[in-house]
Amino acid sequence: MMETPCTVVPLAGTRDDDFAQCLLHGLSRPQKEIPCKYFYDEEGSRLYEAICELPEYYQTRTETMLLARHAPEIARRIGPQPEIVEFGAGALKKVRLLLDVVRPRGYTPIDISGDYLMGVTQTLAAEYPGLTLRPLVADFTAALAIPPLPGAHARAGFFPGGTIGNFRPEAATGLLRRMRASLNGGGLLIGVDLVKDPARLHAAYNDAAGVTAAFNKNLLARANRELGADFVPDAFAHYAPYNPTARRVEMYLVSQTRQSVTLRGRRFDFAAGEAVHTEDSHKYTPDSFAELALNAGWRLAAQWRDADDLFMLAWLEAL
Ligand SMILES: C[S@@+](CC[C@H](N)C(=O)[O-])C[C@H]1O[C@@H](n2cnc3c(N)ncnc32)[C@H](O)[C@@H]1O
Repeated sequence: MMETPCTVVPLAGTRDDDFAQCLLHGLSRPQKEIPCKYFYDEEGSRLYEAICELPEYYQTRTETMLLARHAPEIARRIGPQPEIVEFGAGALKKVRLLLDVVRPRGYTPIDISGDYLMGVTQTLAAEYPGLTLRPLVADFTAALAIPPLPGAHARAGFFPGGTIGNFRPEAATGLLRRMRASLNGGGLLIGVDLVKDPARLHAAYNDAAGVTAAFNKNLLARANRELGADFVPDAFAHYAPYNPTARRVEMYLVSQTRQSVTLRGRRFDFAAGEAVHTEDSHKYTPDSFAELALNAGWRLAAQWRDADDLFMLAWLEAL
């Protein structure tokens, strides 16, 4: 018998052409900064996948273990014949654990890294005949109107990877609120990195092989590739300390010397030791995350954690 082919129906996306504007703006601020979403071009997505394999990076291993272990209960909470919408879908690896058990009607992976998303979607399509795939290249922080999928009973959101931690609490609340609106009453399965021993956090963002440093510096290499800037990436150092008061890892690129960079005809001066802020990664306790979710109109209905309390998978239901 012939198997039903998988249908790939790309949704109309919004390619993000703001990189130049954001960079010009961010480098003009007293505290220079580059928004972390620009880490992810094709090279950045590949480097992120390499980070996930690092011995120091416990997040991916732990979240994957939790998904595998609790998939049957997660499937019961999601219900039959849903559409899964994943925010910041990356390599589409973790979702396979859900697809195998939930057996959804369709899957809509959303990511800003467009070429990478389309490539990994084609690979997934070959493995899941009968599944409707609707890749959406977009910035998930925007209000997204995702058209209903014919035949799907409900919509369930999936937001793994601890990506919620990249948003300051006020922005995270707004994002969770918009996700709630785009899920039309469906629940949200979300991965949350937990507060833990600062040494463990420091190691995870300062790996011995230097992959996180390469990921951080890719921002500058990307500006050279796409915008014709003249950064010398190795003239900046990766710096990622844990701030225990704010409960977040902060990532910077620190200028190693006094130097100037030209971007779109404008010159930017960097003092020796001057830092460009590139990412925050907020850590939560189960209670502090439940409070954040509540402020965004979600109830933390179930949670699953590993024995060492490194990471939490939470199931949120709309209030
Ligand atoms: C930390 S990675 C997580 C990837 C994957 N979900 C996982 O758990 O392994 C964050 C992902 O979100 C995407 N991303 C980051 N900011 C985004 C944004 N504003 N809009 C859409 N995608 C975004 C990145 O391209 C990347 O694939």
